[in-house]
Amino acid sequence: MSEAVAPETTETVAGGGDPAVPRHVAIIMDGNGRWAKKKGLPRVAGHREGAEAVRRTLKAAVEAGVECLTLYAFSSENWRRSEEEVTDLKGLMRFYLERELEELAREGVRLRFIGEPSAFGPDLWERLQLAAARTAGNDTLTLNVALNYGSQQELARAAQILAQEVAEGLITPDEITVERLGGVLQTAELPPLDLLIRTSGEVRLSNFLLWQAAYAELVFLDLLWPDFDAQAFKGALGTFAKRQRRFGGR
Ligand code: IPE
Ligand code: IPE
Ligand code: MG
Repeated sequence: MSEAVAPETTETVAGGGDPAVPRHVAIIMDGNGRWAKKKGLPRVAGHREGAEAVRRTLKAAVEAGVECLTLYAFSSENWRRSEEEVTDLKGLMRFYLERELEELAREGVRLRFIGEPSAFGPDLWERLQLAAARTAGNDTLTLNVALNYGSQQELARAAQILAQEVAEGLITPDEITVERLGGVLQTAELPPLDLLIRTSGEVRLSNFLLWQAAYAELVFLDLLWPDFDAQAFKGALGTFAKRQRRFGGR
């Protein structure tokens, strides 16, 4: 049972950076629909403004020295929305990918994805893969976008991978440890999650990074995502810096 001792305690500061600055920040970008409704606009207008908030946030994260920014852009459950809204969201992803890729590459941002984005169809999937390949060598910041992502699905998939290894006789069941399971999650190569922010006033995780958030600091903001800006990001980092992390110690 020795692996139950939280390795994050040392890993979190192992990057050599300031422990008051989170290495890995994740955001549940919620509230686009409500923002649009408040303004009497269609939901797609909220998503469009939400994409502008992504630009601002990315810039603020680079300036703050954050290593990895994970953004929840589309959940496994968001297929429950109208066909029109899903089509709008796919269109916006394609548009912004096209528009921003050059600049992301220039700024040294490494773009990668978690979830099952192939479900968005071969056209978008191919563009996403090309964008990831194009920026793979960059190291200013890793922008990890969760597309058709569900944490429960990710964990079920991890269980399947390890079950297959057991079936093939590569490992025994007792070799399925916290480290081994964490190692087959889609976030395996990323720094441990330090800070998780959700906008829109909802206080829930909505199937996002359930495993990874074990010792993350959680910040819930009343702001709607399209209103999120550098100041709000800095505010959340300030809140994080004041938190006392214990990882089960004293
Ligand atoms: C978040 O905003 C964006 C996505 C989930 C794609 P919402 O669309 O959930 O906005 P609200 O929660 O309805 O206001
Ligand atoms: C979570 O927001 C998913 C994203 C931000 C992409 P939702 O709006 O889908 O979450 P619920 O339905 O309010 O829990
Ligand atoms: Mg929502």
